[in-house]
Amino acid sequence: MTTQQIVLVSRPKGTPTLDNFRFETVELNAFQDGDVELEGLFYSVYPYMRGRMNDAKSYVPPFQIDQPIEGAVVAKVTATKSTDFKTGDIVMGRLYWRHKIITHAKGLQKIDTTVAPASYYLGILGMTGLTAYFGMIDIGKPKAGETVVVSGAAGAVGMIVGQIAKLQGCRVIGIAGSDNKIKVLKEDFGFDDAINYKTTKDMKEAIALCCPKGVDVYFDNVGGEISDAVIANINFNARIALCGQISLYNSTDISAGPRLQPMLLTRSVLMQGFIISNYARRFPEGTAQLAQWVKEGKLKSTETIVHGFDKLPVALLGLFKGENTGKMIVEA
Ligand SMILES: NC(=O)c1ccc[n+]([C@@H]2O[C@H](COP(=O)([O-])OP(=O)(O)OC[C@H]3O[C@@H](n4cnc5c(N)ncnc54)[C@H](OP(=O)(O)O)[C@@H]3O)[C@@H](O)[C@H]2O)c1
Repeated sequence: MTTQQIVLVSRPKGTPTLDNFRFETVELNAFQDGDVELEGLFYSVYPYMRGRMNDAKSYVPPFQIDQPIEGAVVAKVTATKSTDFKTGDIVMGRLYWRHKIITHAKGLQKIDTTVAPASYYLGILGMTGLTAYFGMIDIGKPKAGETVVVSGAAGAVGMIVGQIAKLQGCRVIGIAGSDNKIKVLKEDFGFDDAINYKTTKDMKEAIALCCPKGVDVYFDNVGGEISDAVIANINFNARIALCGQISLYNSTDISAGPRLQPMLLTRSVLMQGFIISNYARRFPEGTAQLAQWVKEGKLKSTETIVHGFDKLPVALLGLFKGENTGKMIVEA
């Protein structure tokens, strides 16, 4: 049996293009004891995949040239030689960008689609939700009445972060890249205010206006000049959760920003970077809390669903152009 797969054909310099990917038809590997045969249903695209396109040492190994891209996939079991799964089960795992997949059952997780739609396990009930939860609760340590600023606020992680901060009784300000995203954050997701960084000339001043008492918690998804402007408004004893730096992922030079250390020192600010896998042992706690909030209607999810397996590279590149509101997902 053959399947279509998507491989990395070259490493991008700067912003990736469709030329960095190739579609090809390959013969599936032999179906052995312990294996399952899967049909991909939903594929997740993540900003961190940009880092894996570089040949650089990081917390995850780089994608290999002429090898399939891999990421989180929700799939249906279409045949099984494993006692752990039966035909028709819906599973999730880190899998190749292939339409049909044969893989060992070890490492796959059965998901319960009666609790939430299957795609939620790639977003709010998956790594994305856990990132928002542990970054905000564990590092942000929000207290009722404090002011929280979230950059990349209308994206997958940011939207959940803002809602979690609201649940803790905070005043929440989002930063995002379009007027429609600003409207969605305020009207649909309960953000107290939001700033469109693409149409705002002076971000430092705009943040000061939205945060008259200063910023107590900053959840940083984007880095660069947006973060410089937020940190210029940071309060004494504030916490900064350093989650992502998407504004810099396609940079070809080393960005020289303001030196932050004097500000962090004089205001006793704690800035902490984190990778969600640091919290692996506490995933059950995070997943249970997120599922509870979703069940109670306290946490809402929104997704941008792109249709067609062949649109996976387009969807990935779309993250860097702000084409998603909430979690970007490809439905095969
Ligand atoms: N630490 C961890 O373990 C961990 C885990 C998951 C994600 N992350 C990081 O968290 C961040 C958000 O990830 P996500 O999955 O939720 O992605 P996402 O926010 O759903 O998608 C990316 C968004 O980033 C914004 N963006 C793109 N280029 C930008 C730029 N130059 N300046 C400012 N904003 C820009 C776009 O929105 P606009 O329209 O607003 O520009 C885009 O929609 C990323 O930096 C990611 O790497 C970290």
